[in-house]
Amino acid sequence: MELKIIVAVDGHASCGKSTLARQLAKRLGYTYIDSGAMYRAVTLYLLDNHIDFRDKPQLLDALKHITITFRYNPDTGIPETMLNGKAVEEEIRSMRISNEVSPVSADKDVRAFLVSQQQEMGKKKGITMDGRDIGTVVFPHAELKIFLTSDEHVRAQRRFEELQAKGMSVTMEEVVHNLESRDYEDSHRVASPLYKAGDAVELDNTHLTEDQQLEFAYNLVKEKISELEKSVKI
Ligand code: CDP
Repeated sequence: MELKIIVAVDGHASCGKSTLARQLAKRLGYTYIDSGAMYRAVTLYLLDNHIDFRDKPQLLDALKHITITFRYNPDTGIPETMLNGKAVEEEIRSMRISNEVSPVSADKDVRAFLVSQQQEMGKKKGITMDGRDIGTVVFPHAELKIFLTSDEHVRAQRRFEELQAKGMSVTMEEVVHNLESRDYEDSHRVASPLYKAGDAVELDNTHLTEDQQLEFAYNLVKEKISELEKSVKI
């Protein structure tokens, strides 16, 4: 049986990480985990329960009541996020959550809570995970790390179209503002800021189709596996 690896995909907001990591997992027969969905689900829980994450005792108590799981939807082919057993996939993508998720994600206790679960999910390898700190903190020894980049206008346009297709009412200005502020906050926070790991392969998908970026990443995985299998034999 072919050796299984961990593929970490990091990058700025809306640069296509989830699409790439999900399609790659499907092609490889791996598990796909959207770590951003987990931060979004925690944010949803805190907002719905009127919990201010800056109030430490309240936050720590709230985290004890949060269980995040994923349920595969055979119709869409997409794993859907479940918060305490309830499907929240659509809700966590709303601007209400996008506007609050970065400050919540900067909290070290929120990160510790989710990172340990993510590391557990990667124990058996055969996983692709996308986020901001996957190649730097969650899986610093991931066999393959991809740092995805994309022109900021293209990123905003893609996210705007994605939200419109879901019937969410949003303006282009709101989307641009949200992406800019999240990118700034995610890159400048103290706890696990977003940056490219030294050993990550940078992939700019501005002018690539989904198929082309998938092909590129798939070839990287295959090269990495054959390299590792050779070194095991020696
Ligand atoms: O899909 P998009 O690129 O818009 O964002 P996401 O991956 O759903 O992540 C939402 C937010 O969660 C990010 O802006 C970060 O603040 C946070 N996040 C994080 O801090 N660490 C991760 N590994 C993944 C997401």
